[in-house]
Amino acid sequence: MPGSPANRFRIKSPTRLVAEAGADLEGHGLKRHMGLFHLVCFGVGAIVGTGIFVGLSESVAQAGPAVVVSFVLAAITCVFTAFAFAELGGAIPVSGSSYSFAYAGLGEGTAFLVGWCLLLEYGISVSAVAVGWSQYVNELLHSLTGWTLPAALSAGPGDGGVINLPAVIVIALASVLLVRGVRESAGATAAMAVLKLAILVAFCVIGYSAFKDGNLTPFSPAGLGGIGAGTTAAFFSYIGFDAITTAGEEAKNPRRDIPVAILVCIGVVTLLYCAVALAAIGAIGGPEVGGRPAALSYVVNQVTGSTIGGGVIAFGAVVAIASVVLAVMYGQTRILMSMSRDGLIPRVFERISPKTSTPVAGTLIVALVFAIPAAFASLDSVVNLCTIGTLAIMAVVNIAVMALRRREPGLARTFRVPLYPVMPLLGVAFCLYLIYQTGWTTWVQFVVFLAVGSLVYVLYGRRHSRLAAGLRTTRTDEVTPDATAVETPAV
Ligand code: ALA
Repeated sequence: MPGSPANRFRIKSPTRLVAEAGADLEGHGLKRHMGLFHLVCFGVGAIVGTGIFVGLSESVAQAGPAVVVSFVLAAITCVFTAFAFAELGGAIPVSGSSYSFAYAGLGEGTAFLVGWCLLLEYGISVSAVAVGWSQYVNELLHSLTGWTLPAALSAGPGDGGVINLPAVIVIALASVLLVRGVRESAGATAAMAVLKLAILVAFCVIGYSAFKDGNLTPFSPAGLGGIGAGTTAAFFSYIGFDAITTAGEEAKNPRRDIPVAILVCIGVVTLLYCAVALAAIGAIGGPEVGGRPAALSYVVNQVTGSTIGGGVIAFGAVVAIASVVLAVMYGQTRILMSMSRDGLIPRVFERISPKTSTPVAGTLIVALVFAIPAAFASLDSVVNLCTIGTLAIMAVVNIAVMALRRREPGLARTFRVPLYPVMPLLGVAFCLYLIYQTGWTTWVQFVVFLAVGSLVYVLYGRRHSRLAAGLRTTRTDEVTPDATAVETPAV
């Protein structure tokens, strides 16, 4: 249908997306091996990291004990969008996540910008998580040797140092592992998720042993404004729940299990985050926790009167956060691979080394690019950029649900967003509110980032798009003519 609205926006139909993924599965033997438990573990593995271990102190500095309200509000924002992810993930069970959903719902231009924003959600998140990792490395060193790295070598100029070497080192290590094809197996993912939950539960037990009611008053020292700012800060600790939808091609029963896994995951981590926040504040008081580096270790050291407990927490955090760096960097390289296969970015990102069977060049480029903010940017600035990019993507995913309901009413959906269209509209509204809360410096940075992205699309992506050229996207470098593709007019 040349000239139809769908073609004008270069929309990739859900049927085509699933068919391409199916060809991928057949050709490369990906197995549908993940059940509900593994999907939940996969989600917990991607979610729990720097946000709770490091970012908690920032949320507490903003909201005080009312940080629990901030966590619940951040979770509600995610749940609205989780419903949207669940509907789309169930209807289009492929690995591209929000990028593929946008391709199906809103067309190539929006999909490109979503992919571009995924550079913030995944790439900048790698930088942010690595900066958080560095705090606990220092804490671990301190508890083992009594010595810490000087600030000049363990923080960027924005945080009072010169270069954050540990953050660069963890990115370099993750890239070496990814280049060598090391990826967490389902068993390792489950073990890592259990380890994270165990450390946080142990922290709660220690915190509650010193709990004092008086530490919870005043409950909301900065009022509603503080809770709003705390919600934006707390939101970072939920980023990654959508990674579950990237397992669409490896889940045993994606249409049923992916929606359930997302909701279970958000529920579990919200309970845990609130429990950790109350334990920390109840033990030593909000002002002591607020803005404190490696806050969880500090609380345990204060409660136990020794550095051993804090060292154990630091060790757990170092392992747990490193696994997030690995998982998120893996996700980034695969998203770039999808975009590259669609012709929207240069083909270097889809090139697989015959020696290691991994995208070596793509991985090294990702490591080099995102090591720079990790080395020199402040934690706040990278977290804010990651947050605004993720919120923008989430808003688009809610809009994509509404677009697809209109365009493809007959598409098989195993899960439907309840109270439609109120839920997706509320999802968009919550995302916009949190975007507003990130502040004008972050808005300006984001607008510049989007402008650069639009330029890259116009100058490169639009011209090299395989969809526009009537070619099928394939996993390998082969390009197959697509009998179902039709010539599409320029957008
Ligand atoms: N949610 C992830 C973390 O907290 C990004 O590290």
